[in-house]
Amino acid sequence: MIDTHSHINMLENITTDEAVQNAAEQGIEKIIVPAANPADFTGIMELINKYDNVYGMLGVHPSDAKDWNDRLIEDIKKLAENKKIVAIGEIGLDYYWDKSYNELQKEVFIKQIKLANELNLPIDIHDREAHKDTFDILKEYNSSSKVVMHCFSGSVEFAKECIKEGWYLGIGGVVTFKNAVKMKEVVQAVPLEHILLETDAPYLTPVPFRGTENQPAYVKFVAEEIAKLRNINIEEVNSVTTANAERVFAL
Ligand code: NI
Repeated sequence: MIDTHSHINMLENITTDEAVQNAAEQGIEKIIVPAANPADFTGIMELINKYDNVYGMLGVHPSDAKDWNDRLIEDIKKLAENKKIVAIGEIGLDYYWDKSYNELQKEVFIKQIKLANELNLPIDIHDREAHKDTFDILKEYNSSSKVVMHCFSGSVEFAKECIKEGWYLGIGGVVTFKNAVKMKEVVQAVPLEHILLETDAPYLTPVPFRGTENQPAYVKFVAEEIAKLRNINIEEVNSVTTANAERVFAL
């Protein structure tokens, strides 16, 4: 199993040593840590240097678009010389929290798509209540990068559109929630070859630990739920999604 989206730099109740150790005990082989803000970059570089099986992404989250600066392009290029930087992320559009700077979000998103293309790195997408614009911008500006729709939250129809483009869906703890009917349908409707496991720790903790702080070890509950929904065994979920992650992020 690979936790393809895990902010272990943001955990409050356990140390990163504990998070990495707990994950290893549950058979999670690798963890990828996305950036949200430029202030995360140093911490992520430290983590990937400290742990053999921890990888990083660099990027600016749409809710932090005001912290974007064009100088970051050169900074990211330099840091991405480290081969353990495996994606640009998380980047995208978020119309849920604050709609007042949508245009700035789009601008920052497009700049980072171009950067990912130039660096030949995949793109890890944050799309919250912005499906159409996210899709349209990726279609228009992404020339060559693999695309992961992190914490996928769309309909079956939208999932199928994304898969038609060859994109991947990041599935996390939400799928274990009883009322997440739409998510469960998505997981049943798309090919397993397009699913990646993730936690988005410290957020979105799966059942049975919902309400507490999330951590990479809990990605196994996501895998179990996917196995249950697809009526296959967990070994198949693990082997296919691990191969997917290794392919997308060139791990
Ligand atoms: Ni995230």
